[in-house]
Amino acid sequence: MFCLLVMLGNCEQAFGQAAAPMIPKPVEVKNLTGTFQLTAKSKVIVPAGNIEIEEIAQSFAGQLASVIGQKPEIVSRNQKQSIEFKINGEFNSRLGNEGYFLSVTPKMITISANKPAGLFYGAQTLLQMISPDKTNAPIQLACTEITDYPRFGWRGLMLDVSRHFFTKEEVKRFIDQMAKYKFNVFHWHLTDNQGWRIEIKGLPLLTNVGAWRVARTGNFGYFAPPADGEQSTDGGFYTQDEVRDIVKYAQERYVTIVPEIDVPGHSLAFIASYPESSCTQIQYPVNAGFPTGADVVLCAGNDDVFKKLETIFSEVASLFPGKYIHIGGDEADKAFWKKCPKCQERMKQENLKNEEELQSYFIKRVSKILESNGKSLIGWDEILEGGLASNAAVMSWRGTEGGAAAAKAGHPVVMTPNQYCYLDHTQGENVIERYGILFCCFMRMKEAYKFDPMTGVSDSAYVLGGQANLWTEMVPNYRRAEYMVWPRALALSEVLWSPKANRDWDEFVPRVEAQFQRFDKADVNYAPSMYDPDISMIKAGEDDYRIVFTPEIKGLDVYYTFDFTFPDHHSAKYDGQPIKTPKGATDIWAITYRNGKPIGRLLTIKFDELKSRMGK
Ligand code: ACM
Ligand code: ZN
Repeated sequence: MFCLLVMLGNCEQAFGQAAAPMIPKPVEVKNLTGTFQLTAKSKVIVPAGNIEIEEIAQSFAGQLASVIGQKPEIVSRNQKQSIEFKINGEFNSRLGNEGYFLSVTPKMITISANKPAGLFYGAQTLLQMISPDKTNAPIQLACTEITDYPRFGWRGLMLDVSRHFFTKEEVKRFIDQMAKYKFNVFHWHLTDNQGWRIEIKGLPLLTNVGAWRVARTGNFGYFAPPADGEQSTDGGFYTQDEVRDIVKYAQERYVTIVPEIDVPGHSLAFIASYPESSCTQIQYPVNAGFPTGADVVLCAGNDDVFKKLETIFSEVASLFPGKYIHIGGDEADKAFWKKCPKCQERMKQENLKNEEELQSYFIKRVSKILESNGKSLIGWDEILEGGLASNAAVMSWRGTEGGAAAAKAGHPVVMTPNQYCYLDHTQGENVIERYGILFCCFMRMKEAYKFDPMTGVSDSAYVLGGQANLWTEMVPNYRRAEYMVWPRALALSEVLWSPKANRDWDEFVPRVEAQFQRFDKADVNYAPSMYDPDISMIKAGEDDYRIVFTPEIKGLDVYYTFDFTFPDHHSAKYDGQPIKTPKGATDIWAITYRNGKPIGRLLTIKFDELKSRMGK
């Protein structure tokens, strides 16, 4: 494309001209004429004596260093050609607690906000206004005025560290990356069947035993149970000092951590550590997969279980400054309670009609423990069964209906329906990203982008926001975790921050591609799945099966072969009509191009597999 600015010798201002490709998209951007020149001499100006703002400025300056070649000085005096962080004298109700106003004039960049959190988010926006390929000053920034604030106060990402243990450094990297896209809640799924990950000083076996399992590689669901005498060498946990360190790291990025201790189901690691806590009292090993007894639950009839929970939750409450502790509550197999004499006795004593009411009894007791430690309970939507504890908040994952019902009853709600928010689901071309027995669910980024936390909600005031979740049964390393989270979390970032009316998929896609450049620079892994079309089969007549490609984004050309040769731009090109399969062919291979260059991955699939998925 002809660049008029080349004639002015200043083409680099083009990046900032018109709206820079930012995610999440700000509420309001006014493009103005002129440019600001960011130089090695530019300073960051902060109010004198405000340590919190100075810390924001320090971390911002650290990030700027990699784009202008050196870390700018932080000062608290007026200075020309600089970036000023300011707190509003009067509370601006439009901006709220997290909003900001960002002004770029030829002379100054100013970020103003009611609260330091707003300055932090303004700084993230400013960093996205600088082209990712910059490594040296001077940098031209187009003049602009941005007014921005979030749609929701709860913008969450969940990481499951039980099914796969991630190191302290990996958890920090996760938090750092999410904060850049204005997520503000890190839901830390610390315990589950496959591992207990947080040190509890009063119950040391939880980590001495529960944090370790035999090592297995391959597909979840096919892992062999531990062999006789086999050592449990795989796993890990966070000491309380490490937890405090991560909490502080998150706070510096305006991220609140919501720890999850999942009870009474998903508790095999707890039960392996203290076998007397389950209904069966059998000594099970912690296991990477689905071992016998994996679904065993904590015994609701045993007071010692609640004593242990008091120990656990009082220690957890002392480590995390946030309001909420997540207690799980999902997928508890009530068949164990049905068969357990202690549980049945509890039901009699407490006048509970069924096991759903026993679940409610269990959660209400846990809620009291949390309250006595100054915390509020949040749980998966199963906590609605048998009656919700007063003051409990609900995280709605089996659709939005549970959340909508809880909101109607006046309970705070976080929407995380699996259709739009489960990052463990396969995100793209179903051949490359197929895994084991959990090969069941797809969630393309385009689907995530359609999410609306207000679906079916009549009492919107109770919807705190939404969240995306990464379960890690099939995430064996941190690179894979990043691949599953990015770029889909970008869609959730925009859903949760930006006004719904501003959402436009075709306009979002190039902004995602701009983030790919940032990911490359930061060596963050991400899925290029949007370049790979879905492949499906339809039956057009007796013995007439045809193949359909459905691209996720515009502008892709699909080339394909049936003869096991690598497709390229000389191969047959998909014209949008279902393709008749040649006699004798068994597989199709395909690849996408854009503007004459290959962009997608090689896709290969058997017709038998496509047939098996027809109508699903
Ligand atoms: C869940 O996915 N079991 C909350
Ligand atoms: Zn029991």
